[in-house]
Amino acid sequence: MFVATVHEEIPLLGGDVTDGVMRVGDTVRRPTRPSTPSVHALLRHLEAQGFDGAPRVVGLDEQGREVLTYLEGESGLRPLPAYAVTDEALAALAGLLRRFHDAAASFLPPRQAVWENGSNDDRAPELVGHCDVNLDNVIFRDGLPYAFIDFDLARPTTRLFDVVTTLRHWAPLADPVDLDPLQRDLPVGPRLRLFCDAYGLAPRDRRRLLDLARLRFSRSYIAMRTRAASGGGWARMWAEGAGTRIRRAGAWLDIHQDELHAHLV
Ligand SMILES: Nc1ncnc2c1ncn2[C@@H]1O[C@H](COP(=O)(O)OP(=O)(O)O)[C@@H](O)[C@H]1O
Ligand SMILES: [Mg+2]
Repeated sequence: MFVATVHEEIPLLGGDVTDGVMRVGDTVRRPTRPSTPSVHALLRHLEAQGFDGAPRVVGLDEQGREVLTYLEGESGLRPLPAYAVTDEALAALAGLLRRFHDAAASFLPPRQAVWENGSNDDRAPELVGHCDVNLDNVIFRDGLPYAFIDFDLARPTTRLFDVVTTLRHWAPLADPVDLDPLQRDLPVGPRLRLFCDAYGLAPRDRRRLLDLARLRFSRSYIAMRTRAASGGGWARMWAEGAGTRIRRAGAWLDIHQDELHAHLV
């Protein structure tokens, strides 16, 4: 479906990577990429499943950009507001991820599906995950997360890999020097447990969680370095120290893994 642009274009600057994300009326316009048709198939499946925590696909506009529904709320706030780091918000985020996964699990990707490359689990994929639930890609309303945006990195993966990525940013699993001030003193171990309980994560996945986090750090470092070589927003993030932050997070986890693991068993 082709959608005409009749409203003013307002740049959305909250993200890191994609240049030219615009709000136009009730819609968002974003440049397309090779994976866009596959991501749209996923979003349409989520809609058919009644999952309302993701934008709807409207179509393409006359400039060939993807057109998604604009989701009202707060996202990408810096510094983080206090409501973004509460236990209630973390539990709601876990519930949202669980509902997304349960809806995505019945999605059969198109035969010619193209997905963005990235680091991944060694286990067989269980579903198409979001794979980028960072602080900017969650929309809040009334102080609680209610939707994910930016499905650009969606790809076949395991539930646990998506859980690990989400916890990397939201528990968070990071060296405190790299965190927003409000996140520096959070009790990470209890928050891991809270998230896993609210998600309903299987015991075998809890036992593997921190080992997979370590693996993810080393693989993400390489994946991000590869993306940075292609220039654009990824190169900018790399130049601003994204790789160094991943390395520091890995070193921080080395020191704290045993103590954190005790909260998961
Ligand atoms: N569907 C949407 N509804 C509301 N806001 C959005 C939507 N899509 C993007 N935004 C806003 O634009 C910002 C950047 O968009 P995003 O799709 O995350 O691009 P990037 O790839 O740069 O991270 C987001 O952090 C959010 O603030
Ligand atoms: Mg984003």
